[in-house]
Amino acid sequence: MIHLSSRLAAVAEQVPSGASVVDVGTDHAMVPVWLVQSGRASRVLATDIRPGPLQSAAALIEKTGTGEHIRLMRTDGLTGVGPEDGDTVILAGMGGETMLAIISAAAWTKTGALLILEPQSKRAELRRWLIENGYRIQAERLVEDAGRVYPILRVRGGVSPAYSAAELHTGLLDQIEDDPLFARYLDALRAQAAKAAPFYPAAAALLEEYDAIKRRLEHADGAGDI
Ligand SMILES: C[S@@+](CC[C@H](N)C(=O)[O-])C[C@H]1O[C@@H](n2cnc3c(N)ncnc32)[C@H](O)[C@@H]1O
Repeated sequence: MIHLSSRLAAVAEQVPSGASVVDVGTDHAMVPVWLVQSGRASRVLATDIRPGPLQSAAALIEKTGTGEHIRLMRTDGLTGVGPEDGDTVILAGMGGETMLAIISAAAWTKTGALLILEPQSKRAELRRWLIENGYRIQAERLVEDAGRVYPILRVRGGVSPAYSAAELHTGLLDQIEDDPLFARYLDALRAQAAKAAPFYPAAAALLEEYDAIKRRLEHADGAGDI
């Protein structure tokens, strides 16, 4: 079995057993190879926009003898890909704006597909776009890799509950506040907002909301203390 970083392992573990998977922006195809070797996926379509990554993907697939179950395709996002290619779509290691451009050009993902998203930037913008455009974030979890914390979103088409301004950055509190890494993630978001707060009223408002969440969680933690 190939070894995945903790970020990619957390992404791969979101894939349901027996899924057919599309891995968009596969790069080295580590996730597709792991999914096939572990028996979690029945088949994988691994795509990338650039030829270089597809060459490394082909080399790894060859080396691991997983070619019978993994198809490679050069394409931009989900162009030329449809529901017949997979019931689960992974987008990992890309900016949130790239992800939302890819998802918005593939309306079929709203009807039945499971999207597993690991955005590296513009996460609030991505959450906002999803919930305003007919998607519901079903669950989120945080994973630590090389000292950084990454959120992973499970998304399907559906009607979303409302998010507060802070929840667009943290994820829905009901879904995320019990995550063991949440306090640390909130502190990092708080530090960013604190830097911008003197210049931007929106950042100052976010900072207040983060502080209120932090106080509530600390109070809840200490509630049983004597
Ligand atoms: C940083 S790598 C991430 C690789 C892997 N998914 C991961 O999480 O480690 C981003 C990959 O996405 C590809 N990519 C970027 N934009 C893309 C697009 N619009 N469509 C398909 N692939 C894209 C890049 O060529 C690159 O191989």
